Amino acid sequence: MTGSRQQVWRLLPFRPGSAITSAMPRILPITSESLVLAGREIRAGRLVAFPTETVYGLGGDASNGIAVATIFEAKGRPRFNPLIVHLPDRATARELGEFNDMAETLAARFWPGPLTLVVARRPDAGLADLVSAGLGTVALRVPAHDGARALLLAADRPLAAPSANRSGRVSPTTAQHVADELGDAVTLILDGGPCTVGIESTIIDVSGSTPLLLRPGGAPLEDIEAALGRTVPIAGVADAIRAPGMLESHYAPGLPLRLEAREAAAGEALLGFGPARDATLNLSESGDLREAAANLFAYLRALDRPEFSAIAVMPIPKTGLGRAINDRLRRAAAPRA
Ligand code: TXA
Ligand code: MG
Repeated sequence: MTGSRQQVWRLLPFRPGSAITSAMPRILPITSESLVLAGREIRAGRLVAFPTETVYGLGGDASNGIAVATIFEAKGRPRFNPLIVHLPDRATARELGEFNDMAETLAARFWPGPLTLVVARRPDAGLADLVSAGLGTVALRVPAHDGARALLLAADRPLAAPSANRSGRVSPTTAQHVADELGDAVTLILDGGPCTVGIESTIIDVSGSTPLLLRPGGAPLEDIEAALGRTVPIAGVADAIRAPGMLESHYAPGLPLRLEAREAAAGEALLGFGPARDATLNLSESGDLREAAANLFAYLRALDRPEFSAIAVMPIPKTGLGRAINDRLRRAAAPRA
């Protein structure tokens, strides 16, 4: 880390003729001062981009649903893919997920490092539902990067952090890539130099009785198999349920969903959005899409009760975060096999 004297505020990107605004990202070297500032940003529910050994992450407080919704908004993701939660050490990771023998073995061998473990989520973890997109599992990782670890300690929060690129683009491995990608969607970027690994973490699902490779990455599969003393199957079509990007099995309520409802029919629960007198629960009375995203999974779950015949959902705008909310609702409403 650089000394505090070298701390400088730089406004980037600056192009001749373009006005400098407070909305432009600030790239700061990692110093005790920038860490205090970044920690404060995280605890206030705002986003900080930070380096890890794999790629730069776009971090937000994983226990704050609005912060997590803001991550999806900044990335422009059309879907709520579950996010990886970053922790400073194994002990804090154990507070969030259930570690079976496989998880313990891999954590002992690879953490800190480029391995993400999908484990059963502890009910008392205090994580936002949106972090794992309503799934009963959570992806955990302890990064091997002094700057990332220092931020985790300064923030004193688990950090939800996808790669800091816009949806569908390649992952950034320098602070400047992040600034180019996310522009004014992120106000603070911690610069830890180029990432040493340069590709994303390997993801292994150890939530069941057999391990499954969900994504190849920085930790070689051979080393993982050697540590476990067994072969690790690669997620295929048959595993679509658990594989990233194919998560059709996200929590779907048992009750049928009726979309674009103006009001509830007899026996239905009404999931409101915006002003609604008769809503059983309201995703956001003020019509705020971040608030609605943060409440979505918990409210669907809460309304999924036998006293109702169906869940009627009021219309939600199909712009910005509303796209991902509607995608989720459409899939939950689709006829099931
Ligand atoms: O190296 C990395 O892993 C980087 C750095 C920033 O840590 N992060 C990263 O995050 O690549 P992201 O969001 O770009 O990729 C996360 C992947 C997604 O493909 C997602 O579907 C999968 O992890 N994932 C997260 N939680 C999951 C869960 N509970 N079950 C299955 N897959 C999960
Ligand atoms: Mg990514």
